[in-house]
Amino acid sequence: MTNLPPPSGQNGYQPQQPAPHLIDSPPPQVGDIAVLDAGVPEENTHFDPSDAIIQARGLTKQYGTLTALNQFTLDVPRGSIFGIIGPNGAGKSTAFAILATLLRPTSGTARVCGFDPIADPKSVRRRMGYMPDVMGVYDRLTVSEYLQFHAAAYKVPRSEWPELVDGLLQLVDLDVKATASVDRLSRGMKQRLSLARSMVHDPDLLILDEPASGLDPRARIEFRELLIALQDMGKTILISSHILAELQQMCTDIAVIEAGNLLASGSPQSILDQLGDGRRVRVTFADGSVEEFPVADTIEQAALLKRLVVDDQRDVVEFAEVSTDLEGLFLQITQGIVQ
Ligand SMILES: Nc1ncnc2c1ncn2[C@@H]1O[C@H](COP(=O)(O)OP(=O)(O)OP(=O)(O)O)[C@@H](O)[C@H]1O
Ligand SMILES: [Mg+2]
Repeated sequence: MTNLPPPSGQNGYQPQQPAPHLIDSPPPQVGDIAVLDAGVPEENTHFDPSDAIIQARGLTKQYGTLTALNQFTLDVPRGSIFGIIGPNGAGKSTAFAILATLLRPTSGTARVCGFDPIADPKSVRRRMGYMPDVMGVYDRLTVSEYLQFHAAAYKVPRSEWPELVDGLLQLVDLDVKATASVDRLSRGMKQRLSLARSMVHDPDLLILDEPASGLDPRARIEFRELLIALQDMGKTILISSHILAELQQMCTDIAVIEAGNLLASGSPQSILDQLGDGRRVRVTFADGSVEEFPVADTIEQAALLKRLVVDDQRDVVEFAEVSTDLEGLFLQITQGIVQ
């Protein structure tokens, strides 16, 4: 990973006017841009001056009778890699589209990079790069032209395009495809190009909707490393994924949503601690029987071992803590609700 695009402001390619119509997402439907509910009282809308680059307060999205997102409140700390996990239809893409200025919530408010995505979408788009779950179709453009096209849309000076395009293609490992037609790329390559596209204007914040889908195992690992490198460059990343182990490895914070409701948020470990059914140890006895015991901490573990071996005189051959991972926890706290 050489020739990373320069961090914000280093080469001066600051966009002046992002092009809203170029974002790869269907335009909002008439129902989507229904009048924003002004009914959220100001006193319930606490935007504290903390370092959260995204502050969502009570975001709700109603599609007819379906509540796709219900009172969604979230703080994304600046500099974090923040993962959103949820089953199909949980409301992840809905939340992302609202934060990315593409969808009006039915009610609720948000600040993204310090601006209101509904009242001031241009200021948000200037500082935020969005990668939708499905990339739009661009016939007859080469990979380089595709990035130049978006650089032009974000008013990057033409003289900077060659360096910008080269840097981005190297970053996402697509430089060998610079002259290939976009519609001939493999799915995983399109994902990587879409990520590069989201960065043409050197945003502070990346909102990535399932960016790793379609990537092969090696590409997934490289992708994870790439996101960590971007974090090191000072970017904040909001990412959704179904690949839970992957989120656990790279995310500083995780939120779990289901059927539009936020079930938990915090560091991966704090979620495990809050929502897991606690620590347990699995004990195997000499007769082959296995039993599990709940333990709060290592002191309780030691007390349990003493009780079994000394007090009860049982023949313990193995005594091990049962580890819970995010995947197990996800299955445990979500119920597979589909609405
Ligand atoms: N334009 C729309 N009109 C009506 N219902 C919609 C629309 N977009 C999304 N929904 C519904 O809103 C709910 C949330 O969808 P959303 O796409 O946000 O889920 P998701 O968490 O991104 O799911 P996935 O993991 O499958 O991508 C679903 O029930 C979906 O059918
Ligand atoms: Mg989705």
